[in-house]
Amino acid sequence: MCGIVGYTGPRQAYPIILKGLKRLEYRGYDSSGVALLHEGKLNVYKKKGKVSELEEAMIGKDVVGHLAIGHTRWATHGEPSDRNAHPHTSANGKIAMIHNGIIENYALIKQDLLKKGYTFTSDTDTEVLLNFIEDIQKNNDCTIEEALRIALKRVTGAYCILLIEESNPETIIAARKGSPLVIGIGKGEHFLASDASPIIEYTKEVVYVNDYELAIVKPDELILKNLGNEKITPYITKLDMDLAAIEKGGYEHFMLKEIFEQPSTIFDCLRGRLYAKEGLIKMSGIDENIEHLINANRIMIVACGTSWHAGLVAEYIIEELCRIPVEVEYASEFRYRNPIINKGDVIIAISQSGETADTLVALEKAKENGAFIFGVVNAVGSSIARISNAGAYTHSGPEIGVASTKAFTGQLAVLIMMALSIAKHKKSISDERYSSLLNELEQIPEKVEAILKNSENIKEISEKYKNASDFLFLGRGYNFPIALEGALKLKEISYIHAEGYPAAEMKHGPIALVDENLPVVFIATKDPYHEKIVSNMQEIKARKGKIISIVNEDDMISRELSNDFFSIPITDEITAPLLTVIPLQLMSYYVGISKGIDVDKPRNLAKSVTVE
Ligand code: G6P
Repeated sequence: MCGIVGYTGPRQAYPIILKGLKRLEYRGYDSSGVALLHEGKLNVYKKKGKVSELEEAMIGKDVVGHLAIGHTRWATHGEPSDRNAHPHTSANGKIAMIHNGIIENYALIKQDLLKKGYTFTSDTDTEVLLNFIEDIQKNNDCTIEEALRIALKRVTGAYCILLIEESNPETIIAARKGSPLVIGIGKGEHFLASDASPIIEYTKEVVYVNDYELAIVKPDELILKNLGNEKITPYITKLDMDLAAIEKGGYEHFMLKEIFEQPSTIFDCLRGRLYAKEGLIKMSGIDENIEHLINANRIMIVACGTSWHAGLVAEYIIEELCRIPVEVEYASEFRYRNPIINKGDVIIAISQSGETADTLVALEKAKENGAFIFGVVNAVGSSIARISNAGAYTHSGPEIGVASTKAFTGQLAVLIMMALSIAKHKKSISDERYSSLLNELEQIPEKVEAILKNSENIKEISEKYKNASDFLFLGRGYNFPIALEGALKLKEISYIHAEGYPAAEMKHGPIALVDENLPVVFIATKDPYHEKIVSNMQEIKARKGKIISIVNEDDMISRELSNDFFSIPITDEITAPLLTVIPLQLMSYYVGISKGIDVDKPRNLAKSVTVE
């Protein structure tokens, strides 16, 4: 949520900032801006809209400078507009700042500043914080660094800020709490960004800044301090990411690339962990903590969005295989509702970005209460990965399209392996079922590949229904969360209203919506209750609803009931969600692009939601 990037060093900063902003645009894209410092003068440019609009507006402008900061925004305080875009400049015009996060007590601070005669040119909390810093500096006659430290002790909320001042031509001062910051270490130069994607082509050595830390960054010096002004030794890590992973690689959109990457991302997730022939699952995060996991009285899963849907699938699987009670919570509800957390409870946190504010705070709360946190995270080194007691990465690679696709299947693969591993240790699964599921899981990448080969079929179906104003998605059992996910994907990417429901529950409300204009997507792969969902299809057909079904290759009955169907390979009901979700991802993609929507950056959404 908001992307920030900074550079100080011998190169021209603007091209680095611009490229960085394009890479970070998935974090927000309602406006963007850049501040350059050259010969003691600040040049600030900002523009409503996507980064490409800023780029255009910058043609012919003075973009010279070896130090710069840039920002791409997802609006919280103040509508998307030129004046609310970052960077903001302090009242005396000498400091420029960018901010990712929310200053919660901005209103009180603003009141004080207004009384002192400050005026504001934007509606943002960021400008309030900036003038607060300027005011502290003036009153205390101190350095900007000292003023920032004092200010940060008095603000509540979340932030990652980068700040530059005219009198300090080589230095970027950065601080973080709750919003990510990575610093890339080059030779005589430093790069700062919300994630490593703007940094990767210049250096692989990075420092992840922690909460309540301040960084004073010059071309050849990086000083880390805490808010108490004590120095901290930076911990340098090597990035394990390559440039190709964050480029489109010939695909029209990141979303399509990421959907088509799934055979290999699922394979990468299973690789070195799943040994079907030997009947083994090796996952250090699980093996080293198996006692915690098998003795858990209860597992609570905390997540948001698509990750929450992965949690719902996991609930069904863990209860079935491990016989441990599972509750799945929206992180935003969990953190405010005084949940009962007992020592020894296991919390599974699921997050692609590892930075979702609600999930992160929910975990902090659970940890304080003695829960054991297991993180299922995609972004290596992210805040949720670091706060967890143990965990397993999904190894899906950078996901850039705003709608989550390959990270979701990575989450499912990890959660299935986790359930199988716990069940095996608990002896709650028979040897036969265990080996059969290991075999099924091993075959998933090639079955996903087979589905993707038929993407043209889904494209045709999508074309047919793209003008519908509503969709209903129905599934039972393990496919019920996939119905929710199908509906979410379609809403996100095509702006069509869609609802997901357990197929039978449809009779308690949504059936009233059914008429000849309503497409109803049935996720109807075979399971022990298959005939129940066939009856639900009959009910929709009797009311003239249009049935689109995701069915197994040999399911002639469902096919006959459907107006359109898409066949997928047969697998176990537990591994089925890994397959059934793929055509739904494709459908939302094709409907979205046929409506001319920028599917990688759909309106109002952001990839990484670092505000509550
Ligand atoms: C945003 C994204 C979703 C994602 C959700 C949770 O809403 O647009 O795609 O599922 O956040 O994010 P996380 O990174 O915690 O999985």
